[in-house]
Amino acid sequence: MRILVVAQNKGGDGKTSLSRLLAEFFARKKLRVLAIDLDPQCNLSQRFLTMDHDPTDPDGIMPPLHPDYDPNDVDTEEGQSWDGRSSIADIFRARPVVPYKTSIEGLDMLPGHGAELREVELVTKEEVKQRVHSRIEEFLSLAEVQEAYDFVVIDTSRSIGALCAPPLTCSSLVRWSSNPWKDSKECYSSCVRRIACGRGTTL
Ligand SMILES: Nc1ncnc2c1ncn2[C@@H]1O[C@H](COP(=O)(O)OP(=O)(O)OP(=O)(O)O)[C@@H](O)[C@H]1O
Ligand SMILES: [Mg+2]
Repeated sequence: MRILVVAQNKGGDGKTSLSRLLAEFFARKKLRVLAIDLDPQCNLSQRFLTMDHDPTDPDGIMPPLHPDYDPNDVDTEEGQSWDGRSSIADIFRARPVVPYKTSIEGLDMLPGHGAELREVELVTKEEVKQRVHSRIEEFLSLAEVQEAYDFVVIDTSRSIGALCAPPLTCSSLVRWSSNPWKDSKECYSSCVRRIACGRGTTL
């Protein structure tokens, strides 16, 4: 399973558009693809799913009820009942995740959840490794995920913060959008240092 992360520390440079195109392209090439939305704006999620408005969050959206959800099935495995919605934010709360099928064959989506992802972004620098990085790494290493997908495409938010650096260090490929005339050398070195540091390499 290969993991492609699309990142850039500036906004509006086409990360989500590229993530969508690549996820769809790989699926149409008959690869089994999981698209993950790690941006609290949930724009990639909205490209593939009809998301719901989150009543607890004026600016936020959340995943729709999952088609596999049966409200009459109150399975309380490990003491937790499922509310019928699943997002990538669940991995940070030790809840199981259930990807959604999209209208494109072979392409599954693990959407974001605005409020919950914004909460994850608030972790301190010291907490990132344990509370974010290790959870993403564990999820991507699960045998069921590795067996179910050939490709994982991860869209990230505009800042190289708690939700962007960790997936970069778990990736097989990084697509770092850039403008060589405008972006500074420091911007590239900072990105490379973060990836190397997360992989246990010192530059
Ligand atoms: N190759 C392109 N050519 C022209 N317009 C583009 C291209 N890629 C993206 N856009 C447009 O640029 C805008 C921003 O794109 P997109 O949402 O993909 O950026 P983003 O990096 O994900 O933004 P954000 O940082 O807010 O998440 C959108 O209106 C999109 O349609
Ligand atoms: Mg985006």
